[in-house]
Amino acid sequence: MLDFLGKVDLGTDLVNILGGLGFFVVVVITAYVVAVYVKKMKEKSTSDAPLAEENWDGIGEYKNEVPTGWFAIYLMTIVWAGWYWLVGYPLNAYSQIGEYNDEVKAHNAKFEAKFANADTAMLKSMGESVFLAQCSQCHGQTGDGMNGKAADLSKWGNEEGIMATVKNGAKGLGFPMGEMPAGLVDDATAKKIAVYVLAEVSTAKKSADAAVVAEGKTAFAASCASCHGEDGKGMNGMSADLTAYGTPKFTAETVLVKGKKGHIGNMPSFEKSGLLNKTQFMAVATYINAEMSNPKK
Ligand code: HEC
Ligand code: HEC
Repeated sequence: MLDFLGKVDLGTDLVNILGGLGFFVVVVITAYVVAVYVKKMKEKSTSDAPLAEENWDGIGEYKNEVPTGWFAIYLMTIVWAGWYWLVGYPLNAYSQIGEYNDEVKAHNAKFEAKFANADTAMLKSMGESVFLAQCSQCHGQTGDGMNGKAADLSKWGNEEGIMATVKNGAKGLGFPMGEMPAGLVDDATAKKIAVYVLAEVSTAKKSADAAVVAEGKTAFAASCASCHGEDGKGMNGMSADLTAYGTPKFTAETVLVKGKKGHIGNMPSFEKSGLLNKTQFMAVATYINAEMSNPKK
C-alpha cells in the first residue's frame, strides 16, 4: 500500500519532508484532542462553562474555551502556510514549469554547441527532415508548391523566381520600404534584369551572355535601383538585399524570420512561432538550395 514511498525520494525534497511531518503532527494532535473530549463527555455530560445567551429551539450552547489542541493546530497551520508560500514551494523552490524551461534551455544550448560548426552535408540532412516536418505540408515534398498552394521552390532563387517577383510584386518580408509593386517592367526586360541579378548582384554567381548582362544592368539601374540601390544591397535594410537573393542566407535570415505574404497566400514567421531555431533555419535553407532552387541552373 505504501509502495509509492519507494518512488518518492524523501531524502532530497525538504518541502515534501516537512509537509509529511506536518501531516503526521496534525493527525496525532487531532486524535489526542478527540480522545480527550470523548473521555470528558463520557465522564460528565454537562460543562462548567456558562451558557451562551442565544438558543435554538431550546438547544443552548456552552461558552467553552477553544480546545488547546485545536488552537495549536490553527496557529501552526497559519505559520506553515506562510512558510510554504514564502520559503517552500511555490515562490522559492521547485516548479514543474521552471524545470521544463530549464531543460529546454539546456537542450537548446547542447543543440547549438553540437551543431555550431555543422558542415554543408550535415545541414543538408538536418534540413531535409526539417523540410518534411515543417514546410512540405504547404510546399509539397519536392518543393513544387503543390499547384500553386505555396511558392514553387524550384523557381524561387533563380531567373524564373526573379521574373515572377517582378511580375507579381512582393510583400511580407517587412522592410521599411513596404511592398514591391507588381508589373514594374515587361517580361522581356524582367528576364534581362534577372540574368544580370544572378550574374552580378547575387553572390550565387552564374556566368551569362555578357551582352544580356549589360542590358540587364541598365534596366536594373532604371527600374530597380531606386529601391534596391545601385549595388542591389537594399539600401541598408530599407528593402531586400539582392546580393543574398537565391542563397541560403536570404531564406534563413529574411524569409523564415519574417514570413511572407504572397499573391498566393501567406507563410508564417518561423521566428515568431518558435518552431525552429537558427541552426535549423540555415539547415532547411541549405537543403532548399541544394535540392530545389538552384540559381546556377
Ligand atoms: C518600390 C520599391 C521597389 C522597386 C522599384 C523594386 N523592388 Fe524589389 N523589393 C522591394 C521590397 C520592399 C522587397 C521586399 C518584399 C517583401 O516584403 O517580400 C523586394 C523584394 C525583391 C526580391 C525578393 C523577392 C522574394 O521573393 O523574396 C527580388 C528578387 C526583387 N525585389 C527584385 C526586384 C527587381 C528585379 C526590381 C526591378 C525590376 C525591383 N525589385 C524593384 C522593393 C522594390
Ligand atoms: C502555411 C504554409 C507554408 C508553410 C508551412 C511554409 N511555407 Fe514557405 N511559403 C508559403 C507561401 C504561400 C509562399 C509564397 C508566398 C508568395 O510569394 O505568394 C511561401 C514562400 C516561400 C519562399 C519564397 C520566399 C520569397 O522570398 O519569395 C521560401 C524560400 C519558403 N517559402 C520556404 C519555406 C520553408 C523553408 C518552410 C519550412 C521551414 C516553409 N516555407 C513553410 C507557404 C508556406
